[in-house]
Amino acid sequence: MYSIETENLTKKYGDFVAVDHVSFKVEKGEIFGLLGPNGAGKTTTIKMLTGLTPPTEGEAIIAGYSIRKNPIEVKSRIGWISSEVILDDDLTAWENLEIQARLTGVKNWKERATSLLKYFGILEFANRRTGKFSTGMRKKLEVSMALLNSPEVIFMDEPTIGLDVNTRATMWNLIREINRDYQVTILLTTHYMEEADSLCSRIGIINKGKIIALGTPEELKARYGGDIIEIELKNGANVNVGLENAVVSNGKVRIKVNNAETMLMDVIRAIGSDNIKGIKINKSSLDTVFINLTGGTIEEQDFDARKFYAMIRRARR
Ligand SMILES: Nc1ncnc2c1ncn2[C@@H]1O[C@H](COP(=O)(O)OP(=O)(O)OP(=O)(O)O)[C@@H](O)[C@H]1O
Ligand SMILES: [Mg+2]
Repeated sequence: MYSIETENLTKKYGDFVAVDHVSFKVEKGEIFGLLGPNGAGKTTTIKMLTGLTPPTEGEAIIAGYSIRKNPIEVKSRIGWISSEVILDDDLTAWENLEIQARLTGVKNWKERATSLLKYFGILEFANRRTGKFSTGMRKKLEVSMALLNSPEVIFMDEPTIGLDVNTRATMWNLIREINRDYQVTILLTTHYMEEADSLCSRIGIINKGKIIALGTPEELKARYGGDIIEIELKNGANVNVGLENAVVSNGKVRIKVNNAETMLMDVIRAIGSDNIKGIKINKSSLDTVFINLTGGTIEEQDFDARKFYAMIRRARR
């Protein structure tokens, strides 16, 4: 039983393809992560799935309903938490919930709202203006609002962006708890590898509008992982790296190896110690999965399609 099924979901803005034939399925009760760098198409995907923008091509079925043919049925079965502010700080928590109830057409909302506030331990603050809420309290209220209409699926666009470490941990727990206690399927986006790794049962890695890898964190690490030796070259170093699995970009050479420690001396010899400014070793993790798939880190935007596809072909062998 799937809560989300997308088939060739595509969004074009003019000639620009922001989301490019994305197909994936999310089982009921899963926490699914869309992981990708800035501009990858995460928010655009969520906007299509939540009915905020129509797809140019393709289809998605949410909780059994088509986003194209039954958008109203879809909207009544989903909750949504954006990365932007959604609370009205001039209103109390209770008033924010009332507005949410009206927007989503929930009739007997008061009982549900009370039980949610109780669940999150913020019932005593129901009549306080949210302008006076701490970040953690705000997050709890936002999640309460998303749960108000008893949705089957909640979409969260970068739920922990900009949060300090403690509040991020709180939010991770909240996500796990509502998934367990309210049996809600969750699709979240993130560009934090460790977040996807820790929270998600499965992950779709999205880059330039395309899903480039899909699986459990363990599957992704087994398939695309491996250690990475990263050599920063001195300015003007002209190196012809004759090493297998080496990618050169932005003055850095990244080499995928099975075990970085045992290969390091060979790599230094091949590049020539005179050419080297610094060395970094990345042990296998979702980070290295992303580097292996794209030849760049998730923060970097440099992208060389030719090398990228060569990498993918190599990774698949
Ligand atoms: N309304 C729009 N008109 C034109 N281009 C758009 C529009 N919305 C998004 N884009 C472009 O589509 C691409 C994908 O944007 P999107 O917001 O989905 O990325 P994202 O993965 O959410 O990135 P981020 O991590 O920065 O939030 C970007 O190149 C963006 O500039
Ligand atoms: Mg976004």
